[in-house]
Amino acid sequence: MANLEDVPSLDLMTELLRRMKCSSKPDKRLILIGPPGSGKGTQSPIIKDEYCLCHLATGDMLRAAVAAKTPLGVKAKEAMDKGELVSDDLVVGIIDEAMKKPSCQKGFILDGFPRTVVQAQKLDEMLEKQGAKVDKVLNFAINDAILEERITGRWIHPSSGRTYHTKYAPPKVPGIDDVTGEPLIQRKDDTAAVLKSRLESFHRQTEPVIDYYSKKGMVADLHAEKPPKEVTAEVQTVLSS
Ligand code: AP5
Repeated sequence: MANLEDVPSLDLMTELLRRMKCSSKPDKRLILIGPPGSGKGTQSPIIKDEYCLCHLATGDMLRAAVAAKTPLGVKAKEAMDKGELVSDDLVVGIIDEAMKKPSCQKGFILDGFPRTVVQAQKLDEMLEKQGAKVDKVLNFAINDAILEERITGRWIHPSSGRTYHTKYAPPKVPGIDDVTGEPLIQRKDDTAAVLKSRLESFHRQTEPVIDYYSKKGMVADLHAEKPPKEVTAEVQTVLSS
């Protein structure tokens, strides 16, 4: 553990205030589901801050494993490069581990998981063991035709996960992160060709997950084609009801 005497007073006070604010928030366990580019990663940090949840994005975790060339990353790379899904066992393992983090104490946002019905069933089993359950599934419903422009125009700040778009959310200086001044990158799978196969995986393997949760009455449909602020407002309405 870091020596608290070495932490600047302002940082300590900010963290203390954050924890006080968080203590009055209800616990929430959320799933964000939608095709590539539908806005899950854009809305997640906003929900995370509002409800003090941890943000678990399997895509980000897998990309970190690929970059670090861990055994998991080596196994995942080929499927990810082709826009196919990584095996259920690999992703279930990383989610099971990640949900134990102290930052998930008040609940979590699952972004990009579960993506198959098997993953959804395994998640139910994991939560049942903890006496917990998912509260809401936010379905980022959107027409495929909009997604190519969103995906090919996306730029990312890798260490923070901040996302920009050349047209819809441009950085102040092209190619540079607004906060740190560091360079932005484009994801290897953010091409029109790989998007086709990612969308095919979504319709074939992930849409049945929406049906799985609809039958349990847990799905809230969002109009994900609207501008980001309007989507945020819809999310807030759903989560405060
Ligand atoms: P992953 O990283 O999860 O990618 P994805 O689901 O394809 O989702 P994206 O990150 O592309 O889209 P997003 O909805 O977050 O969009 P964003 O908000 O950035 O998965 C990658 C790969 O990992 C998979 O293909 C698979 O191989 C593997 N994988 C991951 N999880 C797995 C699992 N559970 N099982 C098996 N394999 C797994 O928005 C996109 C752009 O649009 C941005 O530039 C943004 O600024 C802009 N934008 C956002 N909202 C709006 C708006 N409302 N209006 C205009 N522009 C907007």
